[in-house]
Amino acid sequence: MSKIAIYPGSFDPLTLGHLSVLRRASKLFDEVLLAIVHNPSKTPHYSLEARSEAISQAMAEAGIENCEVVEISSGLLVDSAARLGATAIVKGFRNSADIDYELPMSEVNRNLGQLETVFIPAAPEHGFVSSSLVRQVFDLGGDVTSYVPESVLEMMQKESK
Ligand code: PNS
Repeated sequence: MSKIAIYPGSFDPLTLGHLSVLRRASKLFDEVLLAIVHNPSKTPHYSLEARSEAISQAMAEAGIENCEVVEISSGLLVDSAARLGATAIVKGFRNSADIDYELPMSEVNRNLGQLETVFIPAAPEHGFVSSSLVRQVFDLGGDVTSYVPESVLEMMQKESK
C-alpha cells in the first residue's frame, strides 16, 4: 500500500523553506499532498487559485514529482486526510516557538484521526524565513528573490498590481 502524507498550511505565500520541507518529505513518502488550507484565523493575502498555480509550477521547476497541490476550504484536516487517503501529516519547524504552536495540533490530529505528524526541521538557510516576513518585505519594496521560488515571486508581482 502506498504511503501518502498531507502537508497542510496557508502557504501565503509558499517560501523556499516550505519547498525544502516538501522536497525532503517527498523522499520519505510515496506521495505528498501539499494542502492549501483556509485558516479561519487568517485573512489570505493571495487568492487560492494564484497560490495553487504558483506552487504547482514551483514543484515542477524544482523537479519534485511525487507531490500534488490540493485545496481544503473547510472542515477538519483529519477528515480531508481520510478522504484523500493520507495517513500522516508533514509539518516543518524552524524553532521552539513553532514546536509550541504545532505540538497541540499534532496531538489533536492524532486523537481525532489517528494521524501521526512527522516534523521536518527547517534547513539552516531557511531558519528565519516566514510567509509574513516575506509579505512585509515585498510590500515595502524589498527584494524577496532569495526567499521564494520564481513562480511565487511572479504570482506576488501579478497579484499586487
Ligand atoms: O500555515 P498555517 O496557517 O499556520 O497552517 C495552519 C493549518 C491550516 C495547518 C491549521 O490551522 C489546520 O490544520 N487547519 C485545519 C482545521 C483543523 O483540522 N483544525 C483542528 C486541528 S489543528
